[in-house]
Amino acid sequence: MAIGVFDSGVGGLTVHRELTTRFPTRDFIYLGDQAHAPYGGRGGEDIVELTRAGCERLFEAGASIVVLACNTASAIALRRLQQTWIPGMREKLGRPVNVLGIIVPTIEAATGLPWSYEAERNGRLEGEKKQAIDVTGVFCTAATAMSRVYEIEIDKRRDDLAVFTEACPGLAGLIELGAPPEELKVVIDDHVDALRRRIGRHPDKAVLGCTHYEIVADLFAQALPPGVQIISQPAAVADSLERYFGRHPEYELGSSARRDFLTTGTPGPQSDLVAQFWGAPLTFEAA
Ligand code: DGL
Repeated sequence: MAIGVFDSGVGGLTVHRELTTRFPTRDFIYLGDQAHAPYGGRGGEDIVELTRAGCERLFEAGASIVVLACNTASAIALRRLQQTWIPGMREKLGRPVNVLGIIVPTIEAATGLPWSYEAERNGRLEGEKKQAIDVTGVFCTAATAMSRVYEIEIDKRRDDLAVFTEACPGLAGLIELGAPPEELKVVIDDHVDALRRRIGRHPDKAVLGCTHYEIVADLFAQALPPGVQIISQPAAVADSLERYFGRHPEYELGSSARRDFLTTGTPGPQSDLVAQFWGAPLTFEAA
């Protein structure tokens, strides 16, 4: 059995790299749904169905846990799949399987609070609204921005954090196609500036809330002023998964350091942009 990592395309590699560093002996299967990337401009039902099909493919290939290394899929599809699809899959496969997302760990990292904190805070701080003093900027796809998941969930937990989301339609697609850094820089600079104008200043912290953006995290770091902390989604997911495995020894994760990279799209070498991020050329096989 293995840990499955799913994304619409190459963005999830940023999470995969961190997870394989954290769990080096475990077996991993990566699936990029490149035949249908990007997800960010798609409708909700479409994203749910594509994510379900990707997870099913990973379970069939031997995954016991699938990590949605995709904010768009996590924001739109995760809860639906956990509630309405996973129980039937467990029965059908006759073994424990589950699907986990990327947004809960990111919100824990952004707020410095465990996910369960919401319940404790209700009541205790009732009527104690503070003035927002710290601003977090979230760069993400249009679908993630429309879900408002970051604003809603952070607002439930922290009175002193304001969240501004900047949708960057088209950026994940450009990264998926391996656009040259000069072209990506223009787009990223524009979005960083658009967010600055909306807030009235730069944010104190930034979340690259689309895993594709982590591939060009250096361009975001250059566009933002030096003091802005960029929250690392891959590290947050690895931390959270480590805790999850501690609580759930029932999942078989394999320990032969297997690494499979699958695509629903055209198999073959990935772009130079990916190779540069990865540190070596990377080839995907047909799913
Ligand atoms: N990398 C994904 C995310 O984190 C999806 C980007 C896309 O396909 O639009 O949102």
